[in-house]
Amino acid sequence: MTKKTVRDINVSGKRVLVRVDFNVPLENGRITDDTRIRESLPTIKYLMEKKAKVILCSHLGRPKGPSDELRMAPVAGSLSHLLGAPVKTAHDCIGSEAERAVEGLRSGDILLLENLRFHPEEEQNDPDFARALASLADVFVNDAFGTAHRAHASTVGVTHYLPSVAGFLMEKELEFLDKALNNPVSPFAAIMGGAKISDKIPVLEYLLGRVDSFLIGGGMAATFLKAKHFPIGQSLVEEERLEFAADIIQRARQKETPFLLPVDLVIAKSSSPTSEFKTVLIDEVPEDWRIMDIGPKTVALFQNELRRCKTVIWNGPMGVFEFSTFAHGTRAIAQILADLDAITVVGGGSTAEAVVSMGLASRMTHVSTGGGASLRFMEGKPLPGVEALLDRRAPPVREGV
Ligand code: 3PG
Repeated sequence: MTKKTVRDINVSGKRVLVRVDFNVPLENGRITDDTRIRESLPTIKYLMEKKAKVILCSHLGRPKGPSDELRMAPVAGSLSHLLGAPVKTAHDCIGSEAERAVEGLRSGDILLLENLRFHPEEEQNDPDFARALASLADVFVNDAFGTAHRAHASTVGVTHYLPSVAGFLMEKELEFLDKALNNPVSPFAAIMGGAKISDKIPVLEYLLGRVDSFLIGGGMAATFLKAKHFPIGQSLVEEERLEFAADIIQRARQKETPFLLPVDLVIAKSSSPTSEFKTVLIDEVPEDWRIMDIGPKTVALFQNELRRCKTVIWNGPMGVFEFSTFAHGTRAIAQILADLDAITVVGGGSTAEAVVSMGLASRMTHVSTGGGASLRFMEGKPLPGVEALLDRRAPPVREGV
């Protein structure tokens, strides 16, 4: 880790602004997956033990201005429950409300500010907003790996005004992803799925030449299958990506990197959980049907390849796993990874959701809390929220400067 962490600075008695990613899924005001909150606990507990005044801030959802459904209150309740300690709240994240709440903090106390995105200036990385947020604290800790790909006021802006370091979750995420991607134990396989190729093109490009095999499933497999002239019925195809699909298959072949596509599929008459469905070989998809999942022969093919692997990264479900009828492929891959004797890294977002919902998260080496952020990392691109933090080793000072 090239960046300073919360271990590298003195936080005792200080006001510490911590950017967390508490953007958790909500259903009727109830949190349906608290992974991101639990994963933030090590940093928060460390700061409490060091007697810091802990000021937490996060976004929740994508509000266009203040919205009662997206207040942080349920998160504060859940955090308080998990910590077994009170969590104070403020009705805003900057201004007199927030300032008063911070003034009332004693060492070891925790305050959760209101949703940062109630102010459009947050996403605009507005300097005045960033300065107002930073003025609440003496030190900044970024533990929001899930938001590290966003250059917002609370991830980048504040670092211009405060000494800024990484939290433990940020450190853990970067270490696991970096090791898997840049220093893997081989053979190294990448399982890629999800709806669209266009989201994954930079990842496929970055991984070609790094991995020993690609395993492709999910909606994006349809474009690859069409590029190979298989019938795909009514499945969504990215016509403008057909050339890329054919080209990357060809380049993988030149590098002698297996590029495994499905050999059988679960198809349905319509994209509905109750639709009629059947399993067919890839050359048997009728005109008026659509691909919903990989089939059992594909699962066996993938399992055979994965068995020999020592590092596996997985990003993107194998089918429409939100509908239980079409979740078998995704569930089977999760189970295969859980049983492997290998380093297994699961990208965030819906892939992580599938693994968590199956109770298999603890059987993976690492399940990322970041969807977009882990994807960006797998593209080999810098994360603005990480770049902005203090370097562990300052660059050498040149003579005469
Ligand atoms: C996420 O859930 O991926 C992060 O919290 C970032 O959220 P955003 O995509 O709304 O910026």
